[in-house]
Amino acid sequence: MIAMPPPSISLNLQVRGMQPSATVAINERSNALLAAGRTVYKLGLGQSPFPVPASVVEALRTHAARKEYMPVRGHPPLRDAVAAFHQRRLQLPREVHGEDVLVGPGSKELMFLTQLAFYGDLVLPSPSWVSYSPQARILGRQVCYLPTDPRDRWLLRPQVLHDHCVRDRDRPRVLILNYPSNPTGQTFTDDELAELAAVARDHRMIVISDEIYGELHHTGQHRSIAVHYPEGTIISSGLSKWCGAGGWRLGTFLFPPELRWLLTAMTAVASETYTSTSAPIQCAAVTAFECGPEIEEYLVHARAILRAIGTWCCDALVQAGVACDRPQGGFYLFPDFTAHADRLRARGITGGELLCERLLAETGVAILPGSEFGRPPGDWTARLAYVDFAGKNALNGVARNPDITTMGVSTLRTFAGRIVAAIEQIVAWLDRAR
Ligand SMILES: Cc1ncc(COP(=O)(O)O)c(C=O)c1O
Repeated sequence: MIAMPPPSISLNLQVRGMQPSATVAINERSNALLAAGRTVYKLGLGQSPFPVPASVVEALRTHAARKEYMPVRGHPPLRDAVAAFHQRRLQLPREVHGEDVLVGPGSKELMFLTQLAFYGDLVLPSPSWVSYSPQARILGRQVCYLPTDPRDRWLLRPQVLHDHCVRDRDRPRVLILNYPSNPTGQTFTDDELAELAAVARDHRMIVISDEIYGELHHTGQHRSIAVHYPEGTIISSGLSKWCGAGGWRLGTFLFPPELRWLLTAMTAVASETYTSTSAPIQCAAVTAFECGPEIEEYLVHARAILRAIGTWCCDALVQAGVACDRPQGGFYLFPDFTAHADRLRARGITGGELLCERLLAETGVAILPGSEFGRPPGDWTARLAYVDFAGKNALNGVARNPDITTMGVSTLRTFAGRIVAAIEQIVAWLDRAR
């Protein structure tokens, strides 16, 4: 009998050596520590702490028996609802329609399809979300990380984008901008978006505007680059963050008519791979994107809670000598521990990766190193997801007392005690070698 080659020899070389996504890995590691009886503060995986709004759960119940394959591009009433949602909330200058929408099993999958269907470089600010770059790597695309500056709150500046593009003007490129940002919690002003749009237009880049945290802008003032660059921007969103339904797996892309060719190509690939998104989930998502008064109230409360927790965590870290910007949206902070580097080195910790490992082992606090987000190895940044609290209790609490933003630490402790404890653990751990 002829022996089969070991599987490693037959692996696609783009996939060989790849590890599971860092966020998934930290979650599994945290769960293993919990199972071993350890106390773990799960600030690693960015999962919404809030329940799915009751009306959306009810809609899912109603449609649970739907079993047919849906159209590849998505359930037509959902595509209409998604278009109307974006039109209304982002005040888009052009009329958009259901036919401009593609629904998929998570926006992550849709991003992968874009990178597969489009041939060009992937341009990303450093830091950026963990999965964009590995997706490009799987497909053999080139990733160009553009530098940002902590003094600019890690936001991409137009001049940096321009300087990168002029080196090879005609090169096809796709730029992914994510704001409010995972990992930094920062976002752009409308003027900043207008400036970036001008550069993107000048270089005819496709922009994927990843606005999955847009509805979680802490003061509800999210703006989109699509207002300034409608012809070249794809707006990415979904149920995972603002609707608390990451595990439902539903993402949406809104294309301009100028990029219909890309939507068409992605639809062909979708038809040969996942076929369509779950029928009951799509039917329930119509209720979510129609966004009735109950969901509006849910969002107002969720934003207030995230703002209160994020601001407190940031201020506590800053007080401990860690550089950190107050978050503006979503549920992440991007602390920079450089000011502690000498003392940490004396403890054998040479950068963010070891910092995160030792912090988890010695305190049970799980966070991720900045190098997972495109920062250089050894960088002293980390991403902290302030989500380890019972979102349902917090929403109930805020409904009783809407004045949550003025609450002190003792009130925060009542509904986000684990987060407060985790930050106190980090501060005490840093303090150990003083
Ligand atoms: C910035 C960003 N974009 C996209 C996604 C993917 O979301 P989904 O595939 O659940 O729609 C995530 C999820 O963590 C994210 O943080």
